[in-house]
Amino acid sequence: MLSLRSRRPDNSPLLEAHREDRYPYPYPTGWYRLASTDSLRRGEIRYLECLGKQFVLWREQESGEIHLMDAFCPHLGANLALGRVRGDCIECPFHQWQFAGDGRVDHIPYSLRPPAGTPARTHQLEDVHGQLFLYHRADASTDNEHEPPPYQVPRIPEVDDDRFVLRGHRDVGRIRMHIIEIAENAVDTAHFQPLHGQFRLPWTQIPVPKIEIVHQAKWTLDEESPWLMHFDDDVVLRILGREMARTGARVRVSYYGPGSLLFFRFTLPGRGEIAMYKTFLPISPLEQQVDYRWFADRRMPRLLVWYVIGNWASQLPQDVDIWQTKTYLPRPVLCRDDGPVHQMRRWYQQFLPTTTPTLPPADREGEAAPSGRDVPAA
Ligand code: FES
Ligand SMILES: [Fe+2]
Repeated sequence: MLSLRSRRPDNSPLLEAHREDRYPYPYPTGWYRLASTDSLRRGEIRYLECLGKQFVLWREQESGEIHLMDAFCPHLGANLALGRVRGDCIECPFHQWQFAGDGRVDHIPYSLRPPAGTPARTHQLEDVHGQLFLYHRADASTDNEHEPPPYQVPRIPEVDDDRFVLRGHRDVGRIRMHIIEIAENAVDTAHFQPLHGQFRLPWTQIPVPKIEIVHQAKWTLDEESPWLMHFDDDVVLRILGREMARTGARVRVSYYGPGSLLFFRFTLPGRGEIAMYKTFLPISPLEQQVDYRWFADRRMPRLLVWYVIGNWASQLPQDVDIWQTKTYLPRPVLCRDDGPVHQMRRWYQQFLPTTTPTLPPADREGEAAPSGRDVPAA
């Protein structure tokens, strides 16, 4: 069973404060997965704390439409999570104002003169193959909030035309780490062999002696889409010292945005393809919720799909142990054979705010350094 529990004791408060102080702004601009669509029942309200904000996600009774709103009632600040859904409205627990999904006040029990406009702040969601995504903007300014995002969450054409089917999803849990580490992982090629070179039983940390995984990885920026980078890895098993070409597979991991949305394409020569979303949602500056959701060619044996995804998933806990205790060095000492860490960090600047927004009080201790301050030139 995949477990992200670290083998080490919890970090001291001093270490956590040190880490928070050094990492960049924790909620970069991008698409974030909030929940799977079918996890929310009709009439349900779910409180969500993430990206430095408080939200309620709720589902209408009749139509089943799902809405995301700021959690605090615009009237006098009660938390709408304690309210209830009444038909196509959410009702505040305090004075029982009712708000429609677009933020309008629909009903006030003691007044026939509701305020005009849409006082409840709503956020648009995109449902992509059963997952709800929010486009979050790191810049505090609301000037651009109604502009469409520069890119969309990728869909899988083979799911839309019914050739691929959902083969699994997993709530992997939470990791005490900063989101930039997800992006850095792709360019730090020197860690693949020492950390991920040992073959393990899929979905576990149990090593299989005398079987190694050989990685040949390449990182590229997408020339047409400035928010996109790719990590291509050719993987083969080395069994008793011999590389077995028949075990070869290729994976392309496309990073849409700041490490919040990774889209995988596994190609198994002669057997077909698997597509997977791997998502990271910052709950707080050093805490990420991790989820996997994968789809495969309907003709591909389920056991093979389970093996491929489980094999990849087994590699995550080795990174997690490092991520949960490390710091961020603005000026790392690199050697010539390290990956393009600085180039990736310069690319990453586009997702960070141009001015450091004020973090919510809970996050303010150890406020992040202004974005880009210490990124060396090429
Ligand atoms: S605080 Fe919500 S109705 Fe008054
Ligand atoms: Fe890694």
